[in-house]
Amino acid sequence: MTALLLPAAILSPIRPALAAEADDKVIAIRLADLLRSARTIVSQHQDLINNPDLGDKGLTGERVLAEVAALYQKQTGHDLRTIDPASREGRLLRAQMDAIKEVVDGNQSTINKAGIGFKGFIPAVFARLVNEKFAERVGNEARVKVTAPEPLVRNRKARPDAWEIAVISSKFSDSQWPKGAPFEEKTTADNRAAYRFLVPEYYVPSCLTCHGAPKGQMDITGYPMEGGKAGDLGAAISVTLYE
Ligand code: HEC
Repeated sequence: MTALLLPAAILSPIRPALAAEADDKVIAIRLADLLRSARTIVSQHQDLINNPDLGDKGLTGERVLAEVAALYQKQTGHDLRTIDPASREGRLLRAQMDAIKEVVDGNQSTINKAGIGFKGFIPAVFARLVNEKFAERVGNEARVKVTAPEPLVRNRKARPDAWEIAVISSKFSDSQWPKGAPFEEKTTADNRAAYRFLVPEYYVPSCLTCHGAPKGQMDITGYPMEGGKAGDLGAAISVTLYE
């Protein structure tokens, strides 16, 4: 009895501090969800962004971030205003929020260009830029990436690494894998111990104007279409939390 109690007694002062920190999975889910909300807000404004008759669209970083935070809260029940900025979760979510604002503010001249309809400012490009800005801020601690099954990848920067390829092919491509269920593993990334989290996403009809059929035909962005169908595995959000 005494032998069992001793380690607990030694550990007990540390417990409250540990309990206050959100665990890896919670943080990974929140980073993935916030990125998804951000893509959705850009998607909801796509017609506005593509409007050639309008210059200033009023789509500032501040406005977009406020809409993203509101949508994220509606969809997850989590209020970003309650996060402790000193916690790891708070630091990472704040970095992602700052990245969202920075990317929108940094693309005002594109967004507000009059006389041009399609400007290439689409959710996928926006998400990639946000993930790059996030890495500039906290890349030593965490990474967020949107990748896809290897044959579907358009931008080289989005190519899945060996771990992502293995999870996509052995888990997500298995017909028994529950739709939308993420995979998590304590492993390594970039030769460092890391918690890794990958969540699959599937094409919905709106994706198919670019990723659909006929396969090989150019879409509006100048990429050959992948021949995807609604429900196909089309993407995966990858979150890495280094130890
Ligand atoms: C307007 C055309 C268009 C639509 C609609 C579209 N995409 Fe894309 N998608 C692109 C382009 C262009 C890229 C390359 C972006 C870049 O440069 O990083 C891309 C990149 C991606 C990527 C990142 C990996 C890669 O190939 O570089 C994923 C995943 C993806 N799209 C999935 C989707 C899904 C899922 C939907 C629907 C919810 C969707 N896309 C809707 C054009 C589109």
